[in-house]
Amino acid sequence: MKSLLQVENLQVSYPTQDGRVFALAGVDFTLHAGETVGLVGESGCGKSTLGKAVMRLIPTTGGRIILGERDITQLGRKALLPHRAAMQMMFQDPNGSLNPRQSVGKSIGRPLEVAGWKAAAIRQRVGELLEQVGLPAAAAARYPHEFSGGQRQRIGIARALILEPQVIICDEPVSALDVSVRAQVINLMRDIQQRTGVAYLFISHDLSVVEYIADRLLVMYLGRIVESGPTRQIWDRPAHPYTFALLAAAPVADPRAPRNENALSGELPSPINPPSGCPFHTRCPHAQARCRAERPALRGNPGQRQVACHFPLFELGARELSPLAL
Ligand SMILES: Nc1ncnc2c1ncn2[C@@H]1O[C@H](COP(=O)(O)OP(=O)(O)O)[C@@H](O)[C@H]1O
Ligand code: SF4
Ligand SMILES: [Mg+2]
Repeated sequence: MKSLLQVENLQVSYPTQDGRVFALAGVDFTLHAGETVGLVGESGCGKSTLGKAVMRLIPTTGGRIILGERDITQLGRKALLPHRAAMQMMFQDPNGSLNPRQSVGKSIGRPLEVAGWKAAAIRQRVGELLEQVGLPAAAAARYPHEFSGGQRQRIGIARALILEPQVIICDEPVSALDVSVRAQVINLMRDIQQRTGVAYLFISHDLSVVEYIADRLLVMYLGRIVESGPTRQIWDRPAHPYTFALLAAAPVADPRAPRNENALSGELPSPINPPSGCPFHTRCPHAQARCRAERPALRGNPGQRQVACHFPLFELGARELSPLAL
């Protein structure tokens, strides 16, 4: 598979009155054409920061972002423009990209207007896109407040698709929606992916949301990836104690199945002063002396499974690393 987006040792820190917030402490991942990678972790672990940094919306303090063949980490505004079209973003609240005083057709078509398209061609393209996301072409003349949350998120998808991007960074795109509407929007996103081959980095604090859409998962804790691998494998058999706790705390489809709300005890430590050694040791039921002294490296095969833990729940052995076992 062709690698579309490659992120290497990406770091972001925010200067604040209380000190530097190390929001991303060196993140690596690859996104291939047509696939969905889920990025999960508790609120405050750095997911949105990663999305914004990859989009070059905030400054990075280290590492590289490679889009296609091009290193875009240091590109200035102008040089970045042709690459901007290839990567788009979707948010939890699509109102961020929709002007309340503009018809949705105008908001969706704006990037084409900037690119110098004629009004009639824009109208046609916007109408086609609205139909693709399950809305009538005539919806273009209406205003954002006239739509429900689910419909607005469909408009958000149309807005993200207008420049035919290769990658869409989706930051909690269904978290504000009712469960039934959520499934519809996720199914629509999958359909669009099958039709267009777009790749998604799908960010969610809720593991049960990404289970259905992500081919692979990245589990993040305090600005670092602590586990990665095929979704099914991680879901069935997490190796990192943090992933295990997240899964145990996640809402389950079957309401009769046991759910352990206390699986994840204690608060997320401050990224201004992260714990020594393994950043999860302050909350980990398996922590030992070594965990407080030495930070575990992410080990395993980046294309398959990886884990950053001195004492994982099982050792990533030959079986887990073999594509035959998928
Ligand atoms: N603009 C900012 N200035 C200072 N700290 C920030 C800023 N944005 C995010 N943070 C901090 O960075 C950390 C990661 O935040 P964020 O990326 O929003 O996490 P998530 O999306 O996983 O909830 C948090 O501790 C948050 O408080
Ligand atoms: S390294 Fe130690 S503290 Fe960290 S997750 Fe593994 S067992 Fe827990
Ligand atoms: Mg966020």
